[in-house]
Amino acid sequence: MTIEYPDYFARFYDMIYDQMRDKTDHTFFLDEIKSTRGSVLEIGTGTGRFFSDALKQGADIYGIDISSSMLDVLKHKIGKEEHHRISVQNMIDFKFDFKFDMIIAPFRVMMHIIEKKDQLNAINNVYRHLRPGGKFIFDVFKPDLKLLLNGLKNVKDFESEYEPGKQFRRYTSTKSDLVSQVTMVTFSFKWDEEMGTRSEDWSFPFRFFFRYELEHLVERSNFENYKILGDFHGGELSEYSKEFIVVCNKT
Ligand SMILES: C[S@@+](CC[C@H](N)C(=O)[O-])C[C@H]1O[C@@H](n2cnc3c(N)ncnc32)[C@H](O)[C@@H]1O
Repeated sequence: MTIEYPDYFARFYDMIYDQMRDKTDHTFFLDEIKSTRGSVLEIGTGTGRFFSDALKQGADIYGIDISSSMLDVLKHKIGKEEHHRISVQNMIDFKFDFKFDMIIAPFRVMMHIIEKKDQLNAINNVYRHLRPGGKFIFDVFKPDLKLLLNGLKNVKDFESEYEPGKQFRRYTSTKSDLVSQVTMVTFSFKWDEEMGTRSEDWSFPFRFFFRYELEHLVERSNFENYKILGDFHGGELSEYSKEFIVVCNKT
């Protein structure tokens, strides 16, 4: 099962996450890209939060995403001569006829892959596309037990003027199932248009991972070794970690 991001979310994505994300993941992934000699693939490139800056800094970077709505936003940020670098492909079965020195899947891309078999296929597909010595980095959030238990009920988590005199708001609801380890997320968007207020609701499943499940998953894959970091400053896992950042190495 794959869920594409709708065009109205793609349209407002950068405005929302420019404000909601601190810049530590950006610094972390850009530093990783800068220190890679050779080519990089970003999976789940989206609107190019990392991709367009990496390209500007001279990286030999390629990107794939299942949502053409997101890649359409990115295409407006980069020159036409660079469009060959991005393609609509799924992490589970993407294909390139060359290999990469690093592959990254930043900002919860793996959480969109619900089934065990697909997760393993995706990781092994990444492995096949890496050169020896290459690495794969992906991040997922550490489950927050209170949030899993109580969920969110239509909480306004974002509001901003997107054009002079026109407001945009997002409300979020979540409901988690501890057996399937899926959180159903519903975003309700409301924004002003010439003809009045437009509203759209979009729901999608998010697969959350616990630490040892992640370890078992990577250990079942072809990767020879890996490490899980607890934050984007490279810190070790601890009870205070909010992220699981998985760095897998192909020897
Ligand atoms: C939260 S966004 C992250 C976008 C970008 N990496 C960033 O940090 O802003 C997740 C992206 O992953 C893409 N995605 C979800 N499942 C995917 C899959 N199976 N293969 C490739 N891309 C996928 C979505 O379409 C979306 O653009």
